[in-house]
Amino acid sequence: MHHPTLCAVAVGVLSALPGAQAALYTKKSSVLQVDGKDYDRLVAKSNYTSIVEFYAPWCGHCQNLKPAYEKAAKNLEGLAKVVAVNCDEDANKPFCGTMGIQGFPTLKIVRPKKGGGRPMVEDYQGQRTATAIVDAVVQKINNNVVKIEDKNLDKFLSGKNETAKAILFTEKGTTSALMKALAIDFLDVITIGQARNKEAQTVKTFGVEKFPTLILLPGGDAPGVVYDGEIKKEAMVKFLSQAGAPNPDPAPLKTKEKKKDAKEKKASSSTKTKTATSESSSATSESQTSTETQQAPVIVETAIPIPAIHTPEKLIKECLTDKSHTCVLAFVPSSEDEAAKKALDGLAALSFKHSQSKRHLFPFFEVPKSNEGAASLLKALDLSSDIEIIAINARRGWWRHYQGADFGQTGLEAWIDAIRMSEGVKKKLPEGIVAISVEEPTPEATPEATPAATESASREEATPVTPEASSVSESTESASTQPVEPSVEPETAAESGHDEL
Ligand SMILES: *[C@@H]1O[C@H](CO)[C@@H](O)[C@H](O)[C@H]1NC(C)=O
Ligand SMILES: *[C@@H]1O[C@H](CO)[C@@H](O)[C@H](O)[C@H]1NC(C)=O
Repeated sequence: MHHPTLCAVAVGVLSALPGAQAALYTKKSSVLQVDGKDYDRLVAKSNYTSIVEFYAPWCGHCQNLKPAYEKAAKNLEGLAKVVAVNCDEDANKPFCGTMGIQGFPTLKIVRPKKGGGRPMVEDYQGQRTATAIVDAVVQKINNNVVKIEDKNLDKFLSGKNETAKAILFTEKGTTSALMKALAIDFLDVITIGQARNKEAQTVKTFGVEKFPTLILLPGGDAPGVVYDGEIKKEAMVKFLSQAGAPNPDPAPLKTKEKKKDAKEKKASSSTKTKTATSESSSATSESQTSTETQQAPVIVETAIPIPAIHTPEKLIKECLTDKSHTCVLAFVPSSEDEAAKKALDGLAALSFKHSQSKRHLFPFFEVPKSNEGAASLLKALDLSSDIEIIAINARRGWWRHYQGADFGQTGLEAWIDAIRMSEGVKKKLPEGIVAISVEEPTPEATPEATPAATESASREEATPVTPEASSVSESTESASTQPVEPSVEPETAAESGHDEL
């Protein structure tokens, strides 16, 4: 029934009328009202794709379009901007003129050019239905999501500096509008990638077992975090924001009506959910922070826990022979212990951080005190606290003691950095600690039952270290785009033969 007919622009006549009609879209509308002054900031300079309707309130075709346009705006919420400019407003007339508007309604799709510059503007001449409009706009959302395949995983993990990264694991081969929108929100803040379930190596590396799964790799200090909430933009933005604030100009998101179905209630019962303020529909259109429908992100586990050494033999083999390079050992009463957990998480995060930026680092191990080898080593070094962290280099005959105030990551990192730079106090290892590598384990190192050994072996195997291990070479591209690391790593570079943690 709709003829894409236009109302002729009748500026002259109009301005003679006493008092123009009210705008078609109210403040509460899902359609974003923009005037000539805002257009540049909200549309032309946005990283988002927008559809813009230039209209006049008196125009019948514009009035007919209104329901479909508002519906399209609801469906595109958080994905693209649906904008209206009232060309009947005196203040907007010059602007509508410069946009070359010759009839109402005129619909234009505006999207940023990749790489900057003036946006691309094209007329929308499709059907004036919500579905057609949504389809056309979705097609024009720029895709900044990196497609991850096994063969380019390393490049993805090492590329783009040290920005945080997030990976969606999915069964789908296409990129959803939601993922595209997230990538736009976090452009240059978080690099977002998508990996298909058939990329077996990538899936294994992160231990992903269900699809979809979203994993955030904050890059800096934090360990990988698995998203455990709903596949909804608002909640996902909140989750990703742990790694960095989104860009200042997101596509509008409105808070949904409070219609919590039983499932949602159940899902969020364990998390703190703020109740939204009553007038959720007004004035919150730009709200990114409303938490009404979202669940708090749950840190499921550190993506890559450090391996544990459960037997004296293994301890010797890894760190105490005359050929052993630097090892960092965390002696803990039990990994369940609160402080121990903090220390182990901190070390896991550091190890992960280094593996992500491809810096070779000495291995970190958890050594439960139940390992008899731990007791004799601690005794020899005269260490008696609940938790002790040391670095040890049996080949060179030195060790270092971590003496930070707590086991927070900052302290640990400073300590590790000092070791990497060969700074700080090295102590001489007492006699009798270093095993000659061809010999059998030292007498007091009583062999433990095999189950423990097997457990430790399998635990290490399960540790997904592949980002580092499978890196055949640092490709030239990534080498050239990577910042030059402070390459003073005398101990690691020169003598560490370890290429996996
Ligand atoms: C657009 O993205 C860039 C990063 O490429 C960001 O610095 C900028 O703030 C974004 N602009 C807006 C308006 O959000
Ligand atoms: C690396 O990051 C810094 C700041 O985070 C930035 O100034 C620099 O341009 C980035 N380099 C590359 C190659 O992306």
